[in-house]
Amino acid sequence: MEYKMIGPEHCDQVLEHLRRNFFADEPLNKAAGLCQNGSSCAALESHCAEAILDRMSVMAVDAKEQEQGVCKVVGVVLNGILKPGDTAKALSKLDTNDDAGFRKIFDLLHRHNLKYNLFEHFDVACMFDVRILSVDSSYRGQGIANELVKRSVAVARKNGFRLLKADATGIFSQKIFRSHGFEVFSEQPYSKYTDVDGRVILPVEAPHIKMQQLYKAICGGADQD
Ligand code: ACO
Repeated sequence: MEYKMIGPEHCDQVLEHLRRNFFADEPLNKAAGLCQNGSSCAALESHCAEAILDRMSVMAVDAKEQEQGVCKVVGVVLNGILKPGDTAKALSKLDTNDDAGFRKIFDLLHRHNLKYNLFEHFDVACMFDVRILSVDSSYRGQGIANELVKRSVAVARKNGFRLLKADATGIFSQKIFRSHGFEVFSEQPYSKYTDVDGRVILPVEAPHIKMQQLYKAICGGADQD
């Protein structure tokens, strides 16, 4: 397996990987019925493409598997730079998004992040935001996600970030982040994300029961992975 930084030139390949693996498999996408395996989702794709432009993302490629001379992307971690005000701006833009599933997911995530404000708590001017973690379904269980998170921490450190964050939506990603020294700052049980009539908005399948907002502080390189 080879691990490479993702540049804007890899955008199409990365989105193709996500369409076949992340879009339909991630617990909240699944609960919202966001899209079928292999199909596109314009709102989520532009969210992913935006992160790629920050040039902090990493991919795993299988050099042995090639399609038209291009190595197969088998895993990605999309990392973006988050600044104060970005989340409030993204939340206000949600109203104009016509994808109801996308709105349900990002309303939950954005409101949670505004309520549990890591910028205020840690007094930082920007954060390294681990936004999307995805591994091809036929390559799972081989430590690829673990390696992608480990490399993301190294990229954050190299670029001088003091704080990393991730909204981990399933129990496996939560375990992965914690094993790399991330700590839980806050949690949102899915059963408590309800509409005005008390109905659960995102009926997320077991074993995933809550979203965890995780963080990792980097203090002069003395943190533990
Ligand atoms: N069942 C049991 N344990 C699991 C599973 C599983 N399905 N998936 C991962 N794990 C555990 C592994 O046992 C391993 O534990 P260890 O370090 O103690 O040995 C650890 O999690 C890491 O395993 P990896 O092999 O590195 O994980 P993998 O490469 O299989 O990728 C991932 C895990 C990314 C969650 C993958 O299943 C996936 O793409 N799922 C769909 C998309 C998704 O849910 N992404 C995370 C959303 S949150 C976010 O994006 C910020």
